[in-house]
Amino acid sequence: MGAVERSRAAKRVRCIEVILRLLAAETFIYVFVLRYFRSATPKLRKQEEAADYQVQLVIATKKSFGSSAKQCQKRSKDEMDGIETLEKDHARIRSLFSNIENTDDPQELEDNFEKLGNILTIHAEAEEQVLYPEASNCEGTQELIDKGHQEHDKGDQMVLEIKSISPNESKFKEKVRGLQEFMLNHLDEEENSLFPKVRQCMSDKKLEELGTEIKQTKAEVAHEVVD
Ligand SMILES: [Fe+2]
Repeated sequence: MGAVERSRAAKRVRCIEVILRLLAAETFIYVFVLRYFRSATPKLRKQEEAADYQVQLVIATKKSFGSSAKQCQKRSKDEMDGIETLEKDHARIRSLFSNIENTDDPQELEDNFEKLGNILTIHAEAEEQVLYPEASNCEGTQELIDKGHQEHDKGDQMVLEIKSISPNESKFKEKVRGLQEFMLNHLDEEENSLFPKVRQCMSDKKLEELGTEIKQTKAEVAHEVVD
């Protein structure tokens, strides 16, 4: 073998050596990276799982708070006492009178007056069947109760009269204004005279029981009125 051939052979050997080293380095890198990811993946998974768990926990907590808040609202509604229940009706009656006052549309007049007539009937029945008999045990209420009965009767007559008038007629609103003046005076009197006497005379427990009874009576009367 000549010197030139020996030199070429030596170069080939070095080339093979370089290639083998590169392969070895690549293999090393590959193995290292693979190991790193193998060890890192469970950590990442755990981190993702932890993050996901935290998100689920926050969502669950929000849901829990939301449902608790709803339960609290429901409970507070259920716990409304008798006087509060009746005062709520009064607010609804005032609101319906206001709706009628603020429109001239015959359909709106008819719809609002129908609702008003229903709530006046249901509310008066609840007062006469539940509140007045219980309130008669409280001092200084009898005169107010008698007046309440009379005013309910007069209110019923006025409602009946308005029902016979078409909302297209100008006297429809005129008659409703008369009823409004009369009924709002009745509501004010109850709120300022009868209700405070009842509240003073009854325990909180009794007022809550009254509320339950008033709601039951209203539901029964409403069923009859709507049917
Ligand atoms: Fe009343």
